[in-house]
Amino acid sequence: MLTIQENISLKPYNTFGIPASAVAFAEILCEEDLISLLQEDLTGQPLLILGGGSNVLFTKDFEGLVIKMSIQGIKFEETAQGIEVTSGAGVLWHELVVYCVTQGFAGLENLSLIPGTVGASPVQNIGAYGVELKDIFKSCVAYEIATGTKKIFTYNDCKFGYRDSIFKTELKGKYVITSVTFKLSATPKINTRYGAIQEELQRRNIAQPTIADISNVVSEIRVGKLPDPSTIGNAGSFFKNPVIAPMQFQELYIKFPDVVHYPLVDGYQKLAAGWLIEQCGFKGIISGNTGTWKHQALVLVNYGGATGAEVYSFSEQIISKVNAKFGVVLEREVNIL
Ligand code: FAD
Ligand code: EPU
Repeated sequence: MLTIQENISLKPYNTFGIPASAVAFAEILCEEDLISLLQEDLTGQPLLILGGGSNVLFTKDFEGLVIKMSIQGIKFEETAQGIEVTSGAGVLWHELVVYCVTQGFAGLENLSLIPGTVGASPVQNIGAYGVELKDIFKSCVAYEIATGTKKIFTYNDCKFGYRDSIFKTELKGKYVITSVTFKLSATPKINTRYGAIQEELQRRNIAQPTIADISNVVSEIRVGKLPDPSTIGNAGSFFKNPVIAPMQFQELYIKFPDVVHYPLVDGYQKLAAGWLIEQCGFKGIISGNTGTWKHQALVLVNYGGATGAEVYSFSEQIISKVNAKFGVVLEREVNIL
């Protein structure tokens, strides 16, 4: 039975560990819960769909209803095209990865150890170590908040981009994703394109890696680089890696020939935001209760007792210094609330 709780602390529900509260909070355990919630009159109050809270920063209390997605369940079907795995929105992402790797279903292994839930994965088209969600996405089921209508979103409907989808743009806050279907394969296409994976495999003397090897190696690299939110509050990369036009890149490259960059199509270049931030002297610094991570300047952290406003204001300083030095404006990846 769906219950709506009042005046709930959101601190346990965000990986930054920021203290904030919500006026109302509803945990959705099954589709029926969501259907009955959407039958209520929700107009006039702000709504926030929340998964694992690993990509949000609360800068103030949330003056509305938090819809916490906890729908569980994983099932699969073998088809002529491969294996289709469908997962409830509330399943932890890494739990799904482990399930698939254990079953021998290939496709998710490079995305090991990303925090958060399956339902949030299409929202920013999660990506890591040479793979993005869009590469293995088939469809998702979502409910329109305004009407309660159920809709299936196909790959083309989602308009995926780098850390982007229709759920972050035109349809931001308008649909609640209840399940996601992935197209996986029993015959793995091992992807070791991301340099650090190859190095780590060589170090372990693994010449013919399995998907379990890839999952282990990616997990180990991540643990070495990123702070564990259970001990140091953070939301992963705070900013996106900026993409700049060919002309701007030429000018930048002349001044900074060691700028870390990745070529895209038509001369566009993606820059490593972590490098830009480090060059401005921010790597591993502590500023009040916040700062950046010692191994990854792109990750802002809560060193204990930080408020969301403090983290946000620190992020403003970073944007301003990077812009002054490189003429590049960083865009936040984390959802600011
Ligand atoms: P939340 O933070 O709860 O929500 C994020 C956004 O999605 C919000 O706008 C929310 O409203 C919306 N949303 C959530 N669930 C639903 C739903 N069911 N329906 C509709 N909208 C929804 N991300 C990467 O892409 N790659 C990485 O390598 C990566 N590494 C990370 C490492 C660390 C240590 C941390 C803390 C974060 C990292 N992230 C990474 C960011 C984060 O894990 C992802 O963005 C993840 O998908 C967020 O999931 P969540 O359930 O916590 O979403
Ligand atoms: N770098 C620095 N200093 C730093 C950090 C990075 O110079 O402090 C440079 C290094 O040259 C390094 C390069 O940047 O080789 C790339 O760093 P890394 O491999 O750590 O990846 P990233 O570009 O910083 C992106 C994603 C991560 C994802 C990793 C691995 C974004 C915004 N971030 O980080 O995703 O896990 O690649 O694929 O695209 C997230 O989105 O929250 C996230 C953690």
